[in-house]
Amino acid sequence: MENGVIQVPKTYTRIIEESDVLGFGQSCDRKTGFLLKGLAASKPGGSFLELGTGTGASASWIMDGMDEDSNLTTVDIDSAVQSIARKYLGNDSRITFCCEDGAAFIQNLSEGFDFIFADTWPGKFELLDKTLDHLNIGGFYVIHDVFPQQKLPEGYKIKATKLLKTLQDRSDLDITELDWATGLVLAVKTAV
Ligand SMILES: C[S@@+](CC[C@H](N)C(=O)[O-])C[C@H]1O[C@@H](n2cnc3c(N)ncnc32)[C@H](O)[C@@H]1O
Repeated sequence: MENGVIQVPKTYTRIIEESDVLGFGQSCDRKTGFLLKGLAASKPGGSFLELGTGTGASASWIMDGMDEDSNLTTVDIDSAVQSIARKYLGNDSRITFCCEDGAAFIQNLSEGFDFIFADTWPGKFELLDKTLDHLNIGGFYVIHDVFPQQKLPEGYKIKATKLLKTLQDRSDLDITELDWATGLVLAVKTAV
């Protein structure tokens, strides 16, 4: 993959450059993005949700995979960070930005989604059941940073291990653990 096989969205490169200037180091890596793009491409006309926009790195990959009839709603509590995503992705009518606490956003949800990338505390370590209530049958719930890594705080690692067990124990999900990038989990909703 290091030999140029991954086609990187132009916006991803620009976003990472500007994130570096801002000192934002939480963007997804290329391999995670590449997988998100492939998964997104499997949901034509899909309704996508991202919890934790950051500066828009993961959204740039998801949008690269989405078709013209799909839409992405992305949520972040930090307007300064999210403004970079707005700058590079905001001219695409398929994306809607929400700048608010993810917990409040989840509590107010009424619609279902075909794809949820949960990349912040709410939707992952908080309000998991409520979030999964809004995943359509056949829909994907995706998380990354599941494997223990040096850069992650100890508290996060413990939470990630517990989350994985919680997901595995649910009878309404089919779980695939992916030894790819920082460790991803792909959960597919199989029952209401
Ligand atoms: C891991 S970063 C997201 C990175 C992004 N998905 C990417 O890969 O490019 C997590 C984001 O969650 C946001 N965040 C933290 N607490 C939040 C909350 N309670 N509600 C919504 N967003 C929150 C942070 O501002 C940060 O941008």
